[in-house]
Amino acid sequence: MTDLPASAAGVRLGTLADLDAIFALQQSAPECAQWPRATYAAILTAAPEVNPQRRIFCVQRGEHVAGFAVASLLRAAHTGACELENMAVAPAGRRLGVGRMLVTAVLTWSQQQRAESVHLEVRAANGAAVQLYERLGFVALGRRPAYYSHPVDDAVQMTWIADGGGAASC
Ligand SMILES: CC(C)(COP(=O)(O)OP(=O)(O)OC[C@H]1O[C@@H](n2cnc3c(N)ncnc32)[C@H](O)[C@@H]1OP(=O)(O)O)[C@@H](O)C(=O)NCCC(=O)NCCS
Repeated sequence: MTDLPASAAGVRLGTLADLDAIFALQQSAPECAQWPRATYAAILTAAPEVNPQRRIFCVQRGEHVAGFAVASLLRAAHTGACELENMAVAPAGRRLGVGRMLVTAVLTWSQQQRAESVHLEVRAANGAAVQLYERLGFVALGRRPAYYSHPVDDAVQMTWIADGGGAASC
């Protein structure tokens, strides 16, 4: 894949062959957004030149997909932003740097796409994810009370700003 971030060694773009693994990873992680399988299929089916706005990044460990992240570009008139929409790492493979690799790949890709910032929302109670994002430079800039249900929780709105204000970057 031509737009695989050079600085994200070990991360690759997902393909349709990863669909089962990605969906299984999602189901193993109740903290992440629970999307229909068809949503992943649609993203994975669209070739990058057809859908340049959305990507699924995967980390492979041996024969298994150890984690995935979904990101999309949000275009406005004179600015660009990126959203980290969803991610999960296999429960047995956590705390080994996979999440860091995936978020780094999303940040690198967003910079390549000349976006200025990366945004996400995360459950306030999801300490692992909040800490991961903070470690990589995201800052909590907002909160949506009781945004999530089952269980009820606030959404923390986090933003990462590209160095240089995004002149040639995210
Ligand atoms: C959040 C998640 C993606 C982290 O993936 P991971 O591969 O375990 O993360 P990493 O190993 O790359 O951790 C990088 C850093 O994040 C932080 N971190 C990760 N897991 C943590 C935990 N359980 N508790 C506290 N900090 C944690 C740490 O700062 C860690 O650095 P360190 O290990 O040097 O201390 C993973 O726990 C997961 O899939 N959770 C369920 C799904 C989810 O929450 N998705 C995000 C929805 S917005």
